[in-house]
Amino acid sequence: MSCKIVVLISGGGTNLQAIIDACSDSNYPAKVVGVVSNKADAYGLTRAKNSDIATVALSHKDFDSREDYDQALIKKIDCFDADLIVLAGFMRILTPSFVQHYQGKLLNIHPSLLPKYQGLNTHQRAIDAGDDVHGVSVHFVTEELDGGPVILQAKVPVFEGDNCDDLAARVHEQEHRIYPLVVKWFAEQRLSMQGDNAILDDNILSASGYAND
Ligand code: GAR
Repeated sequence: MSCKIVVLISGGGTNLQAIIDACSDSNYPAKVVGVVSNKADAYGLTRAKNSDIATVALSHKDFDSREDYDQALIKKIDCFDADLIVLAGFMRILTPSFVQHYQGKLLNIHPSLLPKYQGLNTHQRAIDAGDDVHGVSVHFVTEELDGGPVILQAKVPVFEGDNCDDLAARVHEQEHRIYPLVVKWFAEQRLSMQGDNAILDDNILSASGYAND
């Protein structure tokens, strides 16, 4: 039986699209059953509708507190009875109760080689630091912002004269490769979070994820 995924977005949804495209292969073991955005005008919602996927827009601006918003979000998400929640450019800090509710079944993609550059403006920070390698991480979500165990990273070179958009585009290309792959591992029940570790095929992954020791 196929793994049911809900994807949370705030923006363009190119990672969502990469996952939808992967799901269109009949051999792929997962299916996007719902897309939820905190922004009603997020283009990712249009992408979902174009693929006949149910959508929910729930604005954080309609709630008095982060806690109230996250509780309402949980109610919306749980209507889909999903096996996995995928954050794909969902630009919200999550409350501990939200994270605990989905412990072990909440994935995020973050545009840096974690633990480097947690938070925002990662591409500019890599350029400003003079890094010659940058990249992206897929990780399980824990209560620590961008701090959960890394599952897979992809690296990209930083070239002299790169601006933020050049680097973001290069990273995006890798995001679209690795996120569907990690979702597939989870759907195949090869991947789990146990304690502070990500486990793939019974092996504890290193701090920088699979095949990156
Ligand atoms: C992606 O680059 C993702 O890594 C980043 O938002 C972008 C969403 O792009 N996520 C974060 O910064 C989370 N802290 P998309 O809407 O085209 O998938």
